[in-house]
Amino acid sequence: MNRVLVTTRVPASVLARLREACEVDYVDSSDPMPRADFLARLRGAHGVLCVLQNRLDAEAFDAGLPTLRVAANIAVGYDNIDVAAAASRGIVVTNTPDVLTDAVADFTIGLILALTRRIVEGDRLIRAGGWTGWALDFMLGTELRGRTLGIVGFGRIGQATAERARAFGMRVIATCRPPGEPGPPLPPDVACLPLDEVLAAADVVSLHVPLTPATRHLIGARELARMKPTAVLVNTARGPVVDEAALVDALTERRIAGAALDVFEREPAVHHGLFGLDHVVLAPHLGSSSVETRTAMADLAARNVIAVLRGEAPLTPIGDGH
Ligand code: DGY
Repeated sequence: MNRVLVTTRVPASVLARLREACEVDYVDSSDPMPRADFLARLRGAHGVLCVLQNRLDAEAFDAGLPTLRVAANIAVGYDNIDVAAAASRGIVVTNTPDVLTDAVADFTIGLILALTRRIVEGDRLIRAGGWTGWALDFMLGTELRGRTLGIVGFGRIGQATAERARAFGMRVIATCRPPGEPGPPLPPDVACLPLDEVLAAADVVSLHVPLTPATRHLIGARELARMKPTAVLVNTARGPVVDEAALVDALTERRIAGAALDVFEREPAVHHGLFGLDHVVLAPHLGSSSVETRTAMADLAARNVIAVLRGEAPLTPIGDGH
């Protein structure tokens, strides 16, 4: 029987689905799996369900050979996977697109509102005993209607965020896809602009690009300097897309009006310079973290593994437009 390593706790329904089809080597814990255990338990495995803390590089794939045939990441992002190393060894790798699009787009809008309407700041003030009562000019935020949302990375999640932003009366602009990259046409009411122009025009800049060598530190000191002093930055993509030290400098010197961050350069570490800033909202990588979505992500990963081990095509292979 095929053996499948599951490196994290998954919903009971997903575990049951896997156990019907294979022998499961189950890590019943949400703690990141130590590297040595990961490598040891990959030996003799035919499939693995993994998360973004599990680095799947040449060493890990070699540990799984000659048995390993499929690695299913329970995430849409796959910067933890060396896709070329998998391909050269004939190992299929998959991710979880689509099932988390709405959850992440909802969360992005939540962060934008939390920041611009000062919801988290207000919560902190009340808990600290600092609220002295209603006043006409107390803790004023800014509204979204009539403002411009600049989406950097107009893929599934960027588009779903744009759709929600329009309902709030925002105008949407987005970065153009690199020439030759496939994808649906931009909706007619979304202007497609180079990054610098999006940064200069937007009131809210929201990042939705995957982490690749080309997008690491895509937003650094130079790009932050392009933003309006009244604009805010939102990152629900991957931490290293932003140069966190440069962002702390820009925020500390009030060169931009705020930031809402769900992801960080060295998770779970967070730059200490962010802690003292009131115009910053911090979330611990929660974009996709609803019961429904996390269940759907784990289930999709399980179905990918089962399909490949049955000799069928994976549902959502990486490197096939996903
Ligand atoms: C993803 O799917 O890439 C998320 O960051 C994990 O929640």
